[in-house]
Amino acid sequence: MCGIVGITSNKQVISPIINSLRKLEYRGYDSAGIATLNQGFINEVKCEGRVNALEKNLLKSKLEGTVGIGHVRWATHGAPSTINAHPHSSEKVSVVHNGIIENSTILKKFLIKKGHKFKSQTDTEVIVHLITEYLKKNDLKKTIIKVLKKLHGSFALGIIFKDYPDMIVGARRGSPLAVGYGPNENYLGSDSYALKTMTNKISYLNDGEFCILKNNSVEFFNDIGNKINKKILELSENNENYDKGDFKHFMAKEIEEQPVTIKNCVKEYVDKINNDINIFNFPWKVNEISSIVLIGCGTAFHSCLMAKYWFENFTTLDVSVDIASEFRYRKNKFKKDALYVFVSQSGETADTYASLDLCNKNKMKTCSIVNVVESSIARDSKFVLPIHCGPEIGVASTKAFLGQMLVLYILSLKISFMRKDIDKETYVNKIKSLFTLSDLIKKTLETDSKTQLVCNSFVDIKGSMFLGRGYSYPIALEGALKLKELSYVHAEGYPAGEMKHGPLALIEEGMPVVVIAPRDEYYTKTISNMQEVIARGAKVLLITNKSKDEIYSENIWEYIEVENTTDDLLPFLITIPLQKLAYYSALKKGYDIDKPRNLAKSVTVE
Ligand code: G6P
Repeated sequence: MCGIVGITSNKQVISPIINSLRKLEYRGYDSAGIATLNQGFINEVKCEGRVNALEKNLLKSKLEGTVGIGHVRWATHGAPSTINAHPHSSEKVSVVHNGIIENSTILKKFLIKKGHKFKSQTDTEVIVHLITEYLKKNDLKKTIIKVLKKLHGSFALGIIFKDYPDMIVGARRGSPLAVGYGPNENYLGSDSYALKTMTNKISYLNDGEFCILKNNSVEFFNDIGNKINKKILELSENNENYDKGDFKHFMAKEIEEQPVTIKNCVKEYVDKINNDINIFNFPWKVNEISSIVLIGCGTAFHSCLMAKYWFENFTTLDVSVDIASEFRYRKNKFKKDALYVFVSQSGETADTYASLDLCNKNKMKTCSIVNVVESSIARDSKFVLPIHCGPEIGVASTKAFLGQMLVLYILSLKISFMRKDIDKETYVNKIKSLFTLSDLIKKTLETDSKTQLVCNSFVDIKGSMFLGRGYSYPIALEGALKLKELSYVHAEGYPAGEMKHGPLALIEEGMPVVVIAPRDEYYTKTISNMQEVIARGAKVLLITNKSKDEIYSENIWEYIEVENTTDDLLPFLITIPLQKLAYYSALKKGYDIDKPRNLAKSVTVE
């Protein structure tokens, strides 16, 4: 989703802005642009498409400047086009924006009456004209305070001004914004990752705050313009040079990294010598918790759904799962003895953040499971459990999904043992199994050739279904999501037992259906449901685990067997061929695997 960069320096800023925009490409975008202030004039260069195209346009235009703002846009108001790309500028100001201005239509009417002329269809352009209008009668600080008050909705902003030559203003409500500190230069960025090549010294704006950057100073203000102090955080130098290596796509790399990321995460949380789980400084007593609410979006929601099965099986807690965009607007009954768990790879998803904020405002116990530990969700949760899997760049989540599931699994085991819901022997056995998981994932990755073969049947199809029961149901949802995200095929995940209540009508002769039926307690039931779809003409790809027992079913089109492990760890292995199926189907179609159309990695608008 939209990404912002700003640099004020005593050197030329075009090339570092381009480098930072490249760091933001992973978020998913459709156009890009840069504006600088040079010899008293604001100039902009923009284009539809990628940063590479922008770089070519910049070479032609010879844009220069020591103060500049850059942007990658994910269209909300107005189609992806050069005219709608950011920055948007008047003679006096230029603005980059991430978020949505909900009252832009009303503000536009007011501004048109005052004589302002609009060039784009964006909501952002109203900010440009509003600032230009207010600057006529107010100084810069007053203008910013008044304009921010007028805006409804969410925003992170980067603004440069014709009459304030070395200055960038940043402002935040809802959408994240970071400030970086360098030698004779300072930076603004949508996330610290974008600034990491330039600095490891970062501060974050909170909601309602704005900042004024010059090349030799940084000042922060609250919504009424009072100066505030900020902590400067030092980022770890880890994973600085994350690149594709020999892989064709980040997604391929991230799938193959899973044995290592899982091993690292197990190492972080599990004490091999004492067979215990290390979750230090858990801020609440377990007997203060009698229910757990798991909240996330997209793939993270699927890991929450998975965790419901583990928490219900291992503990006596009440467990509920919610999609963040629904939770934040429902009339929730906040209970003091509930633990609210927020799952998010990026830690910046707008709906998940808003749900966390709502719980914090209601003084609830909040815990987050994130990949990006410097993120807004991590910073504002009372307790954080990182998934330790390193940067995930592919828009479709893979290694983060396994990481989220692992941390949720570990948390469910620890809580159940602390509550005495499971005995020591069961606890220790489950911990021991965790040490085998990385190798089992590695071996399961060897199903690659089979997946490459079957993916041909998922390329030119009208649609597909993914069916599973119990532990395999959330995985079916995730498998279907991966296929639709990457190869733009209609795919539905369904509880296998629910087919008779409607979806069976969709089954046609030759339709590929993925049935997930590991030899767990649901196996025979799922196999019966599989027969029902085969009888109606479906071409079934069965995903199960290796076993000495034969598969009692005829007319299965193809099957893939993952390694064998305990029922509760099988979801980790079953996920692997589903990730690969989506990857290879998209590869065959020649699609942009790391940046699927219309999608974004970090969804910072609701
Ligand atoms: C986007 C991404 C998904 C991700 C979801 C939630 O839709 O494309 O891969 O699952 O956001 O993101 P989060 O960062 O909160 O896990």
